Amino acid sequence: MAITPKISSRSDVPPFRVMDVMADAARLEAQGRHIIHMEVGEPGLPTPEEALARGRAAMEAGDTGYTLALGRDSLRERIARQYGEVYRLDIAPARIIITTGSSAAFTLAFLACFDEGDQVAISRPGYPAYGRIMKALGLAPLDIYTGPNTGFQPTEANLADADDLAGLLVASPSNPTGSVIHPDRMAVLGQACAERGIRLISDEIYHRMTFDAPAATALAVNDDAVIINSFSKYYCMTGWRIGWMVVPENLVRPIERLTQNFFISPPTISQVVAEATFDCEDVLDDRVDIYAANRDIIMSALADCGVENIAPADGAFYLYADMSAFTADSQQFCTDMLEGAGVAAVTGLDFDERDGHRFVRFSLAGSTADMEEAARRLRAWLPGQRL
Ligand SMILES: Cc1ncc(COP(=O)(O)O)c(C=O)c1O
Repeated sequence: MAITPKISSRSDVPPFRVMDVMADAARLEAQGRHIIHMEVGEPGLPTPEEALARGRAAMEAGDTGYTLALGRDSLRERIARQYGEVYRLDIAPARIIITTGSSAAFTLAFLACFDEGDQVAISRPGYPAYGRIMKALGLAPLDIYTGPNTGFQPTEANLADADDLAGLLVASPSNPTGSVIHPDRMAVLGQACAERGIRLISDEIYHRMTFDAPAATALAVNDDAVIINSFSKYYCMTGWRIGWMVVPENLVRPIERLTQNFFISPPTISQVVAEATFDCEDVLDDRVDIYAANRDIIMSALADCGVENIAPADGAFYLYADMSAFTADSQQFCTDMLEGAGVAAVTGLDFDERDGHRFVRFSLAGSTADMEEAARRLRAWLPGQRL
């Protein structure tokens, strides 16, 4: 008789609930229903044409082998130049590491900075993968609950409260709230981490997607910070799986050794296309203006329907709304909204297992015409759901 080999307990991480909503929406679409997609956190528009053309040319030229493990020099240099242009920081290209999306960068950062059992603080609500990757790697994520009082962001008081913290992970603008850490607050956090020897990891994937002031980088306030970024969002390259890290010099070699063994190299054509997107910033900035317009449309529809507590969406392309006037179970509510209004959005439970049952995250990354239609549908359907 065959004995079934074991499955690891470390693989026992929760699924992304958003994927279930996508499946439900696809089922309704197969039945002929028209669905407005506000569940997925990815740009509605494709990679700019000029960048695609450079990718095609690289393919034609047979540029299909591995690259160096840390990435193509020309891309690392171009990213370093951007730190000068956007943040006025002089960063050596040698400190930039190209990764297979920011998702691979998290794995590399956690492995290079922490040992098994180390405690790393993450804020709730927050991007679900942080804590799940940490758990799978044997780290101990520590949830910090944030709310309107601190703009849905952690503060130095959270560090003082926690003993024996090895790391703090921040995200500004954040997913799911779109909230931004003010530059002064970032400076205080950077300093507080430096004083305590806490590794600051900053997820800056939604940088360049702010609606008022530019977002502050942790790179400017903490010399040991690890910055994680990606071409997925602002640069509209989700499917190309390409991102980057900026790390202190003493982390470059440890991460190089890890990434050689884990990934060999980041995808080659994706690196070519990524480099070309730096020449498409006008097109990309126009898309951020679309997200800002979308935010205003959905914000005012929700407000008209009596949704009072919406996190300050100063960047990214999300609205995180407290729907407790309408439901005590936001997962069921999302199912009902999909069926009843043809609007797909995702329960807050993906981002916050404690309080997420009250919240729904709406993604604003679609077209303005879609947002206008979503607003019309919400105005027609939502008031009838009030408890
Ligand atoms: C805050 C945040 N970080 C990281 C990621 C992962 O992005 P990628 O691996 O495509 O770079 C996402 C994706 O939605 C995100 O919202």
